Amino acid sequence: MCLLLSVGGTCVISKTLDREMMYDESPADDLCRPIDSKVYSEDDVAVRDGVSNPNVWVTYEGGVYDVTKFVDQHPGGKKNLMMGAGGDITQYWDYWSQHRTHPKARSILSSMKIGVLSPSEVEETSDDDLYTNDPLREVKSALLPLHSEESGVAFEGETRVPMLSTFITPNHAFYVRNHAPVPESGDINTPIEVGGKLLSFTELLKKHGKAGLVSTIQCTGNRLGEVGKAMGKDSYFNLAPSGIGLISNAAWSGVRLADVLQSEVSSKWSHKKNLEHLHVEFTGLDGFSKSIPLKHILKRSNNVLIAHEMNGSPLPRDHGSPFRLIAPGLVGAYQIKWLQSIHIVEKPSDSPWQTKFYTFNDGSPIKKWPHTSFITSHEDGGRLEGGEDVSGLAYAGGGKVVAGVQVSVNDGKTWIDTTLINDLDASRWTWRRWKISAHKLQLNSEAKRKGELKIMVRVVDETKANLQPESPEEAVKFSGASGYLFNAIHKVTVRV
Ligand code: HEM
Repeated sequence: MCLLLSVGGTCVISKTLDREMMYDESPADDLCRPIDSKVYSEDDVAVRDGVSNPNVWVTYEGGVYDVTKFVDQHPGGKKNLMMGAGGDITQYWDYWSQHRTHPKARSILSSMKIGVLSPSEVEETSDDDLYTNDPLREVKSALLPLHSEESGVAFEGETRVPMLSTFITPNHAFYVRNHAPVPESGDINTPIEVGGKLLSFTELLKKHGKAGLVSTIQCTGNRLGEVGKAMGKDSYFNLAPSGIGLISNAAWSGVRLADVLQSEVSSKWSHKKNLEHLHVEFTGLDGFSKSIPLKHILKRSNNVLIAHEMNGSPLPRDHGSPFRLIAPGLVGAYQIKWLQSIHIVEKPSDSPWQTKFYTFNDGSPIKKWPHTSFITSHEDGGRLEGGEDVSGLAYAGGGKVVAGVQVSVNDGKTWIDTTLINDLDASRWTWRRWKISAHKLQLNSEAKRKGELKIMVRVVDETKANLQPESPEEAVKFSGASGYLFNAIHKVTVRV
């Protein structure tokens, strides 16, 4: 067969054995016309659905795109992309709004353009905003939105720094990281699917009793703003440049998942001698899904919950109403919101959020945060008065313990121990608050002369060894291209 190439404006014919090209061979004059003058009908596109025909074409805003070679590279997974095969992808791009905020999605699509839809078949795009039913949020006082768009995008908002001062984060200030519109929420009577059976949450509560704990959740992308700076000003991470506020702490209650899954394991999986390799896949009503090894869940001390309450009230819509998974110690992405189904499966989930996003460079899923700490009493440029305390948070992730927190006011030459506050519900699943009186931070002569003081904070182990990377560049090296798990020593410069 032949492949037509345009070289220096002239059409040449080259030999190729490419089967896909053979299938879609078009008349020579058509291939040599500029892309925007090649006109296709909806039917031309519909047959390229990757099923009846090996090619996959889609349309978007009147353009026609051959995405065949992109299917296996799609960051959102092959399964998802194939939902749009042979048709218009607008509804999917509107729903998964990352396509509109990600700098590359549109340019990748443009690079695959092969023509346009016949003008009579281009449908008017509707102005329907799938996000209009999202809940109202306290963006002025409690949550700082990460996107400048006011509508049409999945909400991401970090907890404003002054709201990070209490041990328990109030519900309205708890950080929000959504991927899609907030689903219509049910109530406590909404059934939940476990292993193909619809179960009543109230029955589960009656049978297994109420379980609860205080647990901190931190998004893998916390501090992406600093990652952006460390990687250069045009970095992709500057798109949703979070500060330190994609972390919050709340009291959760519901039923212990180990209890719920015990009967499922004995009825359906007892033939398996070894449960070690089984996983539990969770899917939210928004379509988000991920899995956790079954053995982690069956270990009761890991306290994995199907939660219905947050700080004593039914879960708010932004936090997964009516049910969400609480998997203490694991990164935010595992705390599946709007929990719809739970399945024991033989392999980890193949969802994009397990295999492409929230992964290390080698593709393995990120599970827990390394040690990290922040100064929350003062922000950059704030004023530190003599009688005040400097205070903040430290979190160890994965159920590890914070042994101690130290601060330095001389660029890390010497470090001073701070006091860990004994909050009643502080545990290995929660952050720890720390404080130190400003009087203990002896001002060096340079600070006095400049009228400003740089304060650094770090978590240490029992031997006082530092557990955090010294510099942003070092931390970025560890987190890799993803920018996840950024835990460089946090620094704040205040006026004194
Ligand atoms: C055909 C052209 C498409 C292109 C060029 C494209 C491109 C992309 C890109 C670049 C991302 C990564 C965004 C990021 O890293 O933040 C992404 C994510 C994703 N895509 Fe697509 N996509 C296409 C079609 C589709 C379709 C038809 C679906 C249907 C459901 C889909 C579903 C998803 C999902 C679920 C994600 C993850 C979004 C999230 O976590 O918020 N994509 N896509």
